[in-house]
Amino acid sequence: MTPDVTVVGGGAIGLAVAWRAAQRGLTTVVADPAPGTGATHAAAGMLAPITEVHYGEVPLLGLNLDSARRWPDFSAELETAADCSIGYRSEGTVAVAFDDDDVRALDALVQFQGQLDLPVERLGSRECRSLEPSLSPRVRGGALVTGDHQVEPRALTTALVRACDGVGVEFVRRAVTAVGPGPRVRLDGDDVLESRSVVVAAGWRSAALVDIPVRPVKGQILRLRGDVSSLLTRTVRGLSHGVSVYLVPRANGELVVGATVEERGADTTVTAGAVRELLDAAVDLVPGVSELEFSETSTGLRPGTPDNAPLLGRAPGEDDVWVATGHFRNGILLTPVTADVMADLVTGSDPPAIARSFDLERFA
Ligand code: GLY
Repeated sequence: MTPDVTVVGGGAIGLAVAWRAAQRGLTTVVADPAPGTGATHAAAGMLAPITEVHYGEVPLLGLNLDSARRWPDFSAELETAADCSIGYRSEGTVAVAFDDDDVRALDALVQFQGQLDLPVERLGSRECRSLEPSLSPRVRGGALVTGDHQVEPRALTTALVRACDGVGVEFVRRAVTAVGPGPRVRLDGDDVLESRSVVVAAGWRSAALVDIPVRPVKGQILRLRGDVSSLLTRTVRGLSHGVSVYLVPRANGELVVGATVEERGADTTVTAGAVRELLDAAVDLVPGVSELEFSETSTGLRPGTPDNAPLLGRAPGEDDVWVATGHFRNGILLTPVTADVMADLVTGSDPPAIARSFDLERFA
C-alpha cells in the first residue's frame, strides 16, 4: 500500500514530524541510513529563545518562544510514549561576562531583551556567584534567564525512534539520493519509494534534494565528564574576551561546551584552535572545568538560511513535497512547533498563524 507520507531525514525534526504525522493516522515512513546521527547528535540541546535572541531576528523570536512554551508538554508526552527520560531540565540559564568589553556586550543584550519585554534579571558579580559558586570571582556580572531550559538531544532521538515505533512508523535505513518529481524518493541503489506526500527534513543536505537556500554552518563542540552537578546547577552562557561559549551540565555527569559558528561548507574537521578557544573561555568562566575528564569532540553542521529562520512549507514548484529544515541554531528548540506545523500542512489543516511567515515564499 502506498504510504501517506515519507519523511526524508531522521534527526530530531524528521522524527518528531513522523511521530506527529503517524499520531494523526497517516501511514508514515522515515528514510535515513542512520537516524539521530546528524546535527542532532552534536547539539547541546539548549532551549534558549531569550539568551540566544539576536539583533535582526525578531520574527524568529516569536516562533522560538512559541516552541519553548510547547516543550514541557511535548517532553512529558514523549517520555510517556517512549518510556524513557529525555533529560528536560528547567533550572534556567545564567549569562555572564568576563571583562569590561564583555560586560558592555552583555548590557547591550539585556537592554535589547528588555525592549522586547523578555524576562531577564541583571545580576552583579556576587549575585552570579551566589547562584553558581563555581563561577570565577573574575566574572564581572551577568543576567538570570529562568525561561531558558535544556534537553538531552541524544536521549531525545532515542525516545523519538521508540515513540515512532509505537505508532507504526516504518524506518527505511537507506540514503536518499533524490526527491521528485512529485512525492517520490529515490534511494541509493536506485529504488524508488512512492508515497502520497514527502517531507524533506534532511538538514543542510536538503538543498541537494529540493531547490532551497540552505547551507551547512559548522559548529565544533566538546563534551567533558566528572562531578558536574557539584560544579554547575544550570546552563551558563558567557563571553570571555569576546569569545562566546556555553556550558550545559547534564544530570549524568556530562558537561557540553560549545560551540563555534563557522562558514566552512561541509567541513567536519575538529581543529586544535577551536578546542583551545572553547576550553580557554570555559575555564575563564568556571575554573573547575579544567579538572574534568575530556571525553569527546564533535562537529555538527547546522542548516543555515539567508535570514537564519527555518523553512516550513511547500517545496518550490511541488504540490505534495514539503520542507522542514533551515533551523540553524534552533533545531532542538523548534522541534515541537515544527512537528505540529508540518503535521497540519500534510493533513491539509491550517498551521498556527505564527508559522505562516516561515514558508518558502519569502525567498521566491
Ligand atoms: N544553539 C546552539 C548552537 O547552535 O551552537
